[in-house]
Amino acid sequence: MNTEERNIFPVYHEILAREEKETLLKQQAKVIWLTGLSGAGKTTLARHLEAQLFQRGYLTQILDGDNIRAGINNNLGFSAADRFENIRRIAEISRLFLHCGIITINCFISPTDEIREMARSIIGKDDFLEIFINAPLGVCEQRDVKGLYSKARRGEIREFTGITSPFEAPAHCDLEIRTDLLTIDESVDQLLTLVLPAISRKIG
Ligand code: ADX
Repeated sequence: MNTEERNIFPVYHEILAREEKETLLKQQAKVIWLTGLSGAGKTTLARHLEAQLFQRGYLTQILDGDNIRAGINNNLGFSAADRFENIRRIAEISRLFLHCGIITINCFISPTDEIREMARSIIGKDDFLEIFINAPLGVCEQRDVKGLYSKARRGEIREFTGITSPFEAPAHCDLEIRTDLLTIDESVDQLLTLVLPAISRKIG
């Protein structure tokens, strides 16, 4: 059923356009989408990136898997269907921020190309930067910051990404960062090289 058949009439033109909000904030809004295994470093890099952008006067919002799943998505688990719905809602939330002129830094495993493509199509390809935060499974498992890999190996967590649930490396991404080979500062420098030109306000 389409929206009209459901008696829903969304209004897409806003009184204040996105561009006016971006002018106010002196930035171009984008969704910076970090994908990768649990423990690859998505959240750590997002925090450092946000601090660097804040220093330069940019307004950002981090959206993070564990936080979103503790709140708005607390009714979702880790089946393929629930992960899809998790990312669909997050993409819609990101779009709201985008239209408010705000840059979001998204940290979600988002494990398949299909899921990431769905997010890209909701957000719009021109506003979506896909970044693969990559560390080999063995490294993530060794780090095991939250102790989840050992639980998964003991069979205490079902459908754990990389162990009993698939992770597909992105077929095409704007940037790949090997966090097992680079320091945090080097990784953030690479992120800034991609992100700064994309978010800086074009005059005229
Ligand atoms: S996604 O696959 O739907 O994109 P998301 O990024 O929201 O996942 O959530 C991942 C976080 O949930 C992990 O960082 C981890 O802390 C927690 N988690 C709990 N159970 C699982 C699981 N079965 N697989 C992956 N992550 C899990």
